[in-house]
Amino acid sequence: MSGRVLVVGSVNVDLVVQGERLPQPGETVMGGTFSRFHGGKGGNQAVAAARLGVPVMIVAALGDDEFGNDARTALAREGIGTDVLVRLERTATGVALILVDAKAENMIAVAPGANAGLTAAHVRQALIRLAPHPGDVVMVTHEIPTDAAREALRIGRAGGATTVLNPAPAGGLDRSILSLADVLTPNRGELARLVADDAARSGYTPPPADDPIKTARALLDVIAEGAGPHSALLVTLGPTGAVLVRRGKPPIDIKAPKVKAIDATGAGDSLNGAFAAALASGLDLEAAARRAVVAASLSVMRAGAREGMPSKADLETKLIALGIMLPPPPPPADPDVVAEGSTPEPGPEVR
Ligand code: RIB
Repeated sequence: MSGRVLVVGSVNVDLVVQGERLPQPGETVMGGTFSRFHGGKGGNQAVAAARLGVPVMIVAALGDDEFGNDARTALAREGIGTDVLVRLERTATGVALILVDAKAENMIAVAPGANAGLTAAHVRQALIRLAPHPGDVVMVTHEIPTDAAREALRIGRAGGATTVLNPAPAGGLDRSILSLADVLTPNRGELARLVADDAARSGYTPPPADDPIKTARALLDVIAEGAGPHSALLVTLGPTGAVLVRRGKPPIDIKAPKVKAIDATGAGDSLNGAFAAALASGLDLEAAARRAVVAASLSVMRAGAREGMPSKADLETKLIALGIMLPPPPPPADPDVVAEGSTPEPGPEVR
């Protein structure tokens, strides 16, 4: 039996223009196509995990507008538990304006709307109902107020769940919240920011930001006090993959398979959601990270944050093709069917 993934994070509607290239400040670039997608890091992570067949519930805030209704319906359609979603009166649902270029790179500006109104009290109320327990994974992103994120990690840890913090965006996070996460999943830039901020607060010189392993080790050291016994960093490295860094163990470099990328929006969310789903299914950190990297690489092959996120069957087919997962054993032979050319085993005698 799988544990649950309890996502605490943001939900947005993504308004996307896909064009040849990204504009410079002050420049207008003509010729793109417009699409509207469902997004928000929390919503995306919940979908990524739900498609992989684990039970998922989401704690997030929506506005009392049409975007909010659509966002709820879209999450429910993926089989995600939406009972504890918070609906804020006279508030707009979060909106992300996204530009994507022909190389699948993006620029994103977010008007957080209701996401900014999710409080620690909302999170507490929701998580008391969901009652995280050992085997569950509480997956938190930082597109919500820091106090709300901290409360989610605190309750998750108190209940014995595995806690994962995707520190995106990375500003405003200190040791008191970072050490509540069993696993942190920053990208390179977020990792550098976390360590630079901590160094500025505590008065030491951070390691060079171009070495993610050294930087990750520095972060693990500073959050050692108060951190869980298995604390780890899974640093995402874009199309190259990720590196898993644990205290006292060699780092594990996880290469992503090469794919034709159309839109990298939500690739990190796909990785986080798949990682949480794999942990909730009982896989260890390394196996979960390997699956997550492959899920993220598949997710960039279609436009929109959620559109390319793989189903369990699609991900497993790819994992088998890559030799990461063994193919299922052939079904046992039906004793009543005799293969052509073979001599039938004598059956029991009928008298
Ligand atoms: O990570 C991608 C997401 O970031 C988008 O869906 C957008 O809504 C922003 O939150």
